[in-house]
Amino acid sequence: MANRPDLMWLGRNTNHISTHPAVREAMLDSIRSEEYHIYAPPYGLQELRQLVVDELGLNDMSAIITDGAVSGLYHTCHTFLKPGDGLITTDPTWEWTVKFATSIGAMVKKLNIYGTEFDYRLNPVRLDAAIESNTRCIYLIDPNNPLGTSFTESEIRDICDIARVQKSYLIQDCTYRDFSHDHHLAAHYYPEGTITMWSFSKWLGVAGLRVGAIVANADLIERLSFAPPNILGSNIVAQRGAIEGLKHKSEWFPKVLATTRANQLMVFNQVDQISGITVPVYPSDGNFLILECSNAGETPESICRLMDERNIMVRQGSYHSKQFGNRFIKVSLSVPKEWVEKFCHCLPEVVKQARILKLEGAEFLG
Ligand SMILES: Cc1ncc(COP(=O)(O)O)c(C=O)c1O
Repeated sequence: MANRPDLMWLGRNTNHISTHPAVREAMLDSIRSEEYHIYAPPYGLQELRQLVVDELGLNDMSAIITDGAVSGLYHTCHTFLKPGDGLITTDPTWEWTVKFATSIGAMVKKLNIYGTEFDYRLNPVRLDAAIESNTRCIYLIDPNNPLGTSFTESEIRDICDIARVQKSYLIQDCTYRDFSHDHHLAAHYYPEGTITMWSFSKWLGVAGLRVGAIVANADLIERLSFAPPNILGSNIVAQRGAIEGLKHKSEWFPKVLATTRANQLMVFNQVDQISGITVPVYPSDGNFLILECSNAGETPESICRLMDERNIMVRQGSYHSKQFGNRFIKVSLSVPKEWVEKFCHCLPEVVKQARILKLEGAEFLG
């Protein structure tokens, strides 16, 4: 896929809106000066660490820079989990964190949130009931990828209370926070046990550069500082870009958000015209929407395959959930309007053809 220059990336939640010139310049300056001969500081450039803390408003906390949120999640699992520990998450979840935890020997429990019966979200009462004596970590994606739901302030407070009673770590994966209508950081209510995961991939649109952050209180950061995999520093060029990105966020990001939300609306309106598919969560707090398939045979895999033939990459639900993956596709929308117009144009025909094709199974299309 990386070698298909004409591919329209509507499946990986990446942000394809043109970069702010200051961000591009900062990275080019970094390359021109060849500062990359050095290693970046072990926990990140100090200026960037401070900007991250300021941006999240977690002023009593510290940030360490990671190679994207994924490496922060890997490292957090390896720091705080041991064999036999329990990790609770939702289904759908972000499966890589599940894999990191199980590879350590932790036991993962998933709480179903897919469907109208759950309103596509986790009720804290259910979380409370699921806690067991070995529960060591609660991993919540907020806003949830792929569903686009996020927690209210009162839910976050309840979740923090539950985690505090259990003395469990709360990993709040805020990769999509910036696209949310109203987001609440658990670290404000449970500072002693919350590990906040943040990313530059989605809001800043630099997924290929690998830069993210873990924010937590000093004690947790000290434990995380012991043996991080990027102890020789994260990509210095990317960090220079991230610094400029944060400095220009308030002037640049609102345009990204407006484009993303207008794209969401365009897809929502188009789906409304097509029988057999629906948008169960609208508006989404992420930069994506899920489209639910009916029982008429238009499987996610068929839709993805037929879109792929039209140079459009969308993602089948099985990437996110074994149990519910046959019920939806996910469309990422922080992309140029023209891509979404093309998607909307193709959708009626693709759905029609998908009912004949009826591909099934977890065909991996990226
Ligand atoms: C929920 C979630 N967490 C973490 C990541 C990884 O983000 P990064 O690109 O910062 O590693 C993703 C990427 O799609 C994600 O969806």
